[in-house]
Amino acid sequence: MDLKQSPLRRAGETDDAFLRRMIRTFKTPTLRNLAHTQPYFHDGLYHKFDEILEEMRLISEMARESRIRQADEELLKIRISKADFKPLSAFLDSLNEDLRRGY
Ligand code: HEM
Repeated sequence: MDLKQSPLRRAGETDDAFLRRMIRTFKTPTLRNLAHTQPYFHDGLYHKFDEILEEMRLISEMARESRIRQADEELLKIRISKADFKPLSAFLDSLNEDLRRGY
């Protein structure tokens, strides 16, 4: 979206002031208890860990091919293949609490 058209923009605010005010206004969601917090991402498009991992695999590849505008440099370093999905899913699973235990 064009910065100047943002509905969050205050009247008369410069681009610089707006950008400075926007830093840290979005809190990246935690990976804890993912099994209990689906659907995932801001549009709730994904429900399964494999879908998340495929998204990360794809966007990191796109970032390396310069197919994403202003991609974060951390994305360039992610190199995962489908063979990594099982252990990565197991890791995400390890961040789940068993809520039935009641503590
Ligand atoms: C393999 C690596 C990664 C995995 C498995 C992963 C996993 C996830 C998951 C599961 C979510 C959704 C959480 C939810 O909706 O409750 C998420 C969101 C997010 N992650 Fe990651 N992430 C990875 C790498 C990164 C990196 C490198 C960055 C930043 C440079 C990043 C930034 C974010 C942001 C900003 C969101 C919120 C996006 C939105 O709501 O649409 N992630 N990530």
